[in-house]
Amino acid sequence: MSSVLATVICVVMLFWGNSDAQLSPTFYASTCPNVSRIVRGVVEQAARNDVRIGAKLIRMHFHDCFGCDGSILLVEANGINSEQDELPNLSVEGYGVVDDIKTDVENVCPGIVSCADILALASEILVTLAGGPAWKVPLGRRDSRTANAAGTSDIPGPDETLENLALNQRLDDANPDPTLDTAYLQKLRQACPQGGNPSRLNNLDPTTPDDFDNNYFTNLQNNRGLLHSDQTLFSTSEADTVAVVNRFR
Ligand SMILES: *[C@@H]1O[C@H](CO)[C@@H](O)[C@H](O)[C@H]1NC(C)=O
Ligand SMILES: *[C@@H]1O[C@H](CO)[C@@H](O)[C@H](O)[C@H]1NC(C)=O
Repeated sequence: MSSVLATVICVVMLFWGNSDAQLSPTFYASTCPNVSRIVRGVVEQAARNDVRIGAKLIRMHFHDCFGCDGSILLVEANGINSEQDELPNLSVEGYGVVDDIKTDVENVCPGIVSCADILALASEILVTLAGGPAWKVPLGRRDSRTANAAGTSDIPGPDETLENLALNQRLDDANPDPTLDTAYLQKLRQACPQGGNPSRLNNLDPTTPDDFDNNYFTNLQNNRGLLHSDQTLFSTSEADTVAVVNRFR
């Protein structure tokens, strides 16, 4: 999956969600018993059209989960300073699929299921479609009526170091990341030359970009992490995160 870091952090978030005693996998058992089936129908169709939809929606769920309240879905309006207009939104896509799910769910159970729960359900289904594990999704999140645009600055950026939030990953000759595998770095320079098209995409996981697996961690061990904020988890030798990478691979 092209956004495995997001996935990993997202799963951590879901565990935090689990600790909330008010959430329950059977939250909609009497009010919308088919919600999971409805979400699955839309998501499976979307995955047939777009192999990246899993990465997109799991990432959206992660970005939303600095609250898990659906606030990322609120567009700019009177009194709402949309989170979508902040810098971290540039990597967030897939809003149309969420709209499609919401429409189908509303048709069957109007006014019952929160958008935050829809994102959580869609993420679990997409993880399983990409070969990952299934889990019972705790439900019962309430949607926010306000957005927290300033709060998007809490979302970690791709260029962050473990301890310093402002060190940039650079691919130019003057400042190569000293830890990156040379052949991989060479490929990246060809794929994304300086001054090239800034909207070009590159897989975060060069090995199995569309699968939910642990190659992300193997890649870090092989110095093939695309983002500095990823590679530094393994390359900062004194950091606690090295053991985490080794454990998950
Ligand atoms: C749930 O879906 C099944 C299969 O489509 C259907 O038979 C059943 O009536 C639905 N239940 C509710 C409560 O909508
Ligand atoms: C993200 O923010 C930019 C800048 O405000 C805006 O033009 C764009 O439509 C937003 N993208 C999404 C997907 O919301």
